Amino acid sequence: MKQQIVTPARSLTKETEALLNKQIVMEGKSAAAYLSMGSWCETKGYETSSQFLFKHSDEERMHMLKLIHYVNTAGGHGLQPEITKIKHTFKNLREVFETVLNHELEVTKSINSIVDHCFKIKDFATFNFLQWYVMEQREEETLARRAVELFDLIGEEGVGLWMIDQEIGKLEMYASKVSGKPV
Ligand code: FEO
Repeated sequence: MKQQIVTPARSLTKETEALLNKQIVMEGKSAAAYLSMGSWCETKGYETSSQFLFKHSDEERMHMLKLIHYVNTAGGHGLQPEITKIKHTFKNLREVFETVLNHELEVTKSINSIVDHCFKIKDFATFNFLQWYVMEQREEETLARRAVELFDLIGEEGVGLWMIDQEIGKLEMYASKVSGKPV
């Protein structure tokens, strides 16, 4: 006789699981997009920006993995996302960092809406878990905004772009002001 497998009860709702899986897609897309940007920068000789973006891509993968582990250990199933339509070429370095900033603003909106949902349905465990992402977004928005500001502060003429590329490497300092994490 075939043994019947009964799924044990859990607190995580199907709706919250779906929202977290949507966030997994977003983090996976971030990882892929930043990897692509880093690669473009490397081909153009923006060495520091390239390293910055490769590192950022690794961090986004970690954000995705952290969500997958959370969903799985809460009784759900964290799904490997399909990643398509990644942009490979850019008009210039400014466009790269403007895209990063706009993308991070979208990620913040998405995290906030899941936090709001969890609060409404009293899923305080997931609400609490997501607070790490709330603060991470504050840090990432600051970093991206500082990067975009460099283009006007330094100017892109002459050695400007070379200097901007150098300054991108120092941006972690701003992030640590927000998070308190060591640089
Ligand atoms: Fe994990 Fe930058 O969002």
